[in-house]
Amino acid sequence: MLTEKLKTDEKNFKESVKRAAELLKRGGIVAIPTETVYGLAASALDGNAVKKVFAAKGRPQDNPLIVHIADISGLYEIAAEIPEAALECARRFWPGPFTMVLKSAGTVAECVSAGLDTVAVRMPSDETARAIIRESGLPLAAPSANTSGRPSPTSAKYVAEDLDGKIDAIVMAGECGVGVESTVVTFVTDVPRLLRPGAVTAEQLREIIPNIIIDKAVLSEPEKGAKVSSPGMKYKHYAPKTETYLVEGMGESFADYVNSKPRCAALCFEEESEKITVPKLVYGTKRDEKTLAHSVFSALREADRLGAEVIYVHAPSRTGVGLAVYNRLIRAAAFRVITL
Ligand code: TXA
Ligand code: MG
Repeated sequence: MLTEKLKTDEKNFKESVKRAAELLKRGGIVAIPTETVYGLAASALDGNAVKKVFAAKGRPQDNPLIVHIADISGLYEIAAEIPEAALECARRFWPGPFTMVLKSAGTVAECVSAGLDTVAVRMPSDETARAIIRESGLPLAAPSANTSGRPSPTSAKYVAEDLDGKIDAIVMAGECGVGVESTVVTFVTDVPRLLRPGAVTAEQLREIIPNIIIDKAVLSEPEKGAKVSSPGMKYKHYAPKTETYLVEGMGESFADYVNSKPRCAALCFEEESEKITVPKLVYGTKRDEKTLAHSVFSALREADRLGAEVIYVHAPSRTGVGLAVYNRLIRAAAFRVITL
């Protein structure tokens, strides 16, 4: 299949939004930018289109998708019960990198929810995404636009790396600002539960839901066969092709540790970069976790090109959006953690 590349500079923006919407209305699948990562969109009302998304990504059938809306009216069409705490979160965090799991109204195609009676909904803030949703007049089911298991794509070139030739079009915009996927909170449990950390932080959520529960799977490996609240958390994720380890602790400096190891590469902070003598990539500054979130996925993709046998990643703090970065990295490392 020829994948159309739709440009979004001032001259082409309107035309590209129209073309993307047209393809989506006809049951096509189109990669679109959002403020978090690129998404692979299909009409959430069209089961056949959604199945093409699962196929293009190689995504397990039991892992449900997030439905993207542009206006609050979309929420009432898709969700059956909206508790007050959820509405308050919507008012505070939408449009933005925040997803709510609610009881489904049964409007979206069954495969969107992978057979669950719940649905995940998000209102992105990215202007291109919003324009495409509005122009199509559809709720859009969109997982991250990567091959399942690979790091999520934060620029159009990484979407093309995984999906060129397998999807109808890629809307070519710049780099995603946030860099990690949205925060996912479920409201169908007695007490709301954080399933996936993101740029809307646990600290911010506690201001609205003081007793919010952080799901075990955020920081630890799910036990084999255990029932998980968010199916996405049980899969190996975000992994470079090279064997990866997460390194934390202060017993020895990260620089001394990696410098003593053969045939390795390092993903490190700006502050320590000069002291590191092995091949390395800086993925941000430890003083600002937002910079780490912005670059973590591109660093994981580029790390493979350093030609090392092992990659050591310096773990961020778990505060603010650092928790989201840590959550992605511990999965990229298949839960192999080294404590210095
Ligand atoms: O920022 C984002 O959320 C991006 C952009 C494209 O919007 N999308 C994204 O989608 O990250 P995806 O499919 O890669 O991740 C969706 C996550 C998965 O962990 C999935 O298991 C969970 O949301 N999820 C979706 N529907 C759910 C449901 N009904 N109940 C529990 N978890 C659900
Ligand atoms: Mg994903």
